[in-house]
Amino acid sequence: MSKAERAEELRALIERYRNAYYLENESLVSDSDYDELENELRALEQENPELIVDSPTEKVGGAASSLFASHRHLEPMLSLDNAFSLEELLAWDQRVGGGPYLCEPKIDGLAVSLTYEKGKLVSASTRGDGEVGEDVTANVMTISSVPHALSGSNHPEQIEIRGEVFFPLADFAKLNEGIVAAGGKPFANPRNSASGSLRQKDPQVTASRPLQMLVHGFGAWQSNVSSQSEVYELLSSWGLPTTKRYKVAGDAQEAGDYVEKLESDRHSIEHEIDGVVIKVDDLSRQSELGRTSRAPRWAIAYKYPPEQVNTKLLDIRVSIGRTGRATPFAVLEPVRVAGSEVEFATLHNQDQVRSKGILIGDTVVLRKAGDVIPEILGPVTALRTGSETEFQMPTKCPECSSDLAPASEGDVDLRCPNSRSCPAQLRERIAYIGSRSAMDIEALGYVSAAALTQPIEPKEPPLRSEADLFSLTIEQLLPIRSYVLDPDTGLPKHDGEGNPKVTDFFRKKDGEPGEVALKLLANLEEAKKRDLWRILVSLSIRHVGPVAARSLCNHFGSLEAIFAATEEELAEVEGVGPTLAASIKQWWDEDWHREIVESWGKAGVALSIPGHQGPGSMSADGPFSGMTIVVTGTLSQMTRDEAEAKIIALGGKAASSVSKKTAFVVAGPGAGSKLQKAEQLGVEVIDESAFVARLASLTN
Ligand code: IVH
Repeated sequence: MSKAERAEELRALIERYRNAYYLENESLVSDSDYDELENELRALEQENPELIVDSPTEKVGGAASSLFASHRHLEPMLSLDNAFSLEELLAWDQRVGGGPYLCEPKIDGLAVSLTYEKGKLVSASTRGDGEVGEDVTANVMTISSVPHALSGSNHPEQIEIRGEVFFPLADFAKLNEGIVAAGGKPFANPRNSASGSLRQKDPQVTASRPLQMLVHGFGAWQSNVSSQSEVYELLSSWGLPTTKRYKVAGDAQEAGDYVEKLESDRHSIEHEIDGVVIKVDDLSRQSELGRTSRAPRWAIAYKYPPEQVNTKLLDIRVSIGRTGRATPFAVLEPVRVAGSEVEFATLHNQDQVRSKGILIGDTVVLRKAGDVIPEILGPVTALRTGSETEFQMPTKCPECSSDLAPASEGDVDLRCPNSRSCPAQLRERIAYIGSRSAMDIEALGYVSAAALTQPIEPKEPPLRSEADLFSLTIEQLLPIRSYVLDPDTGLPKHDGEGNPKVTDFFRKKDGEPGEVALKLLANLEEAKKRDLWRILVSLSIRHVGPVAARSLCNHFGSLEAIFAATEEELAEVEGVGPTLAASIKQWWDEDWHREIVESWGKAGVALSIPGHQGPGSMSADGPFSGMTIVVTGTLSQMTRDEAEAKIIALGGKAASSVSKKTAFVVAGPGAGSKLQKAEQLGVEVIDESAFVARLASLTN
């Protein structure tokens, strides 16, 4: 393809995407892919200026819609040039000749121009193509933060004020819930909802949406102000909404610091931002620098990595969790989002796949905000070709071929019933034992769990059940060869040629035990003395999480006592209840489950709390009787479990949350919200040594 042909192609694409974005409120590509196309075209044009014919690089926005009357701006509404790295920011700093710079959030909203005459709002319009926009006066009049009349004094004859209309993040989810409940199509993101809400024929609809505006500049204005920061102070004194987050930075380095700081605060801001706008603060320098046809030279947008991208949904597969739950997940064309590469996204259950309306083969919108797990928001229906196919939930377990079925009638989730031998369930349970919520065994991560349960060699894996975990030997570990699995999906990773990666998992090249093997055995040994609740949690009994497990262990003192208790006795324990009690009984009814507890006991796992006197020890007339006591933070002379066992032995109740009824709180270092709550409620707080002294005085 010749350069001229490529330029033509890029122009056509950009035109199409802009029109979809500005007229249909639909993003056919992600912002970052779009930026890339524009950058490519700009680079081509810079090298070959003869290619610049009616190019979108010289224009702003999209075509005008026919929904609204048109409004001609007195001064054009421009766009901004972008920087994607510190180097690009420094290059711009060189071009403009240094600071001071005004830095502020780049609001991901909809650009709007307000015209005030003698202090009265006379018109409001969208940017349109930069010269002519849509007249949305009636709609903007419904936005509460936009004053119809300026306050204060010294209002100019006429002023154009530029800013961004946005949809507050806090209200966005609620809006979409309402739209979906009414059978409508939800907005893909807050920016689309701002644009969709403002560009309504009926201003009543706009009025019903909690839109807000922040202003960040001006168009036509005979002013005698000398800096951008003074402009903000003046606009603010007139009652216009300006950002409180702006900062004047002395130089590019300080501007860079601002960029970094705002990125870490990105998710605590009330609206979406996609970067920082950095402006030369001095207004006379701004006019000296001037502008190109589309953007001022005195400002630049530093763009953060995108949190929302478009990618292809290649397939939907199903993974099996540790309690057998079948969860569909998306296999995506790998894509970078929020700074990391994403290839998979969970879809929770088949109802969710249906309600999102996604088909296999669709281009989908994928969102990953910071550290939050990636989520598919929905399809880009405008890009469908007709070859997309609907996802069918499988009827059999993908790993052991058992028939999937709901655990009980009316359950949306399907489960694999083969809990004993389904390789997926065993692998997930073993990995869970190693996790922080359970036994917290560093060397027993997902990948080790897979190697122990599904090695390529030896064919018979060392673990056919978690019963044998604590009696593993080095001889069993050494021969293991295994696939390298992706922790998110359990699927094998592949080398460059598409073959699954295989490793000698626990052995070094010279045949000696590898670090992981030695560490795993040492870690397992230490884990035998973990707090009892962690051991109970590790059994993967449905509904028994850390909170219930703590409560059960504190009450009964040993696994033996827990499993010997009747359903009624179990249900009476604080935070347990009938569902959980039934689940515990059901679990214990299986022979192979009892074998796990028995083998763990034989291997030396501590199955009771040292010093606990058993359920009978809760003497009604002990010195702590009638008292609810909370232990929080880290203790040094005993574990939290032991402290709670002592409380119970003396007739008290060990609770996990603080209330007005709490007698006192024992707080060690690292205590957080419980300590705060106690202080708020005026509940007595003592430290570990005071607690030990109190115990001594009571038991002597
Ligand atoms: S200043 C002459 N400041 O981003 C244009 N723009 O991508 C000066 N935007 O067209 C614009 N937040 O609509 C400026 N704090 C901010 C902004 C901001 C968002 C928008 C604006 C601009 C677009 C460019």
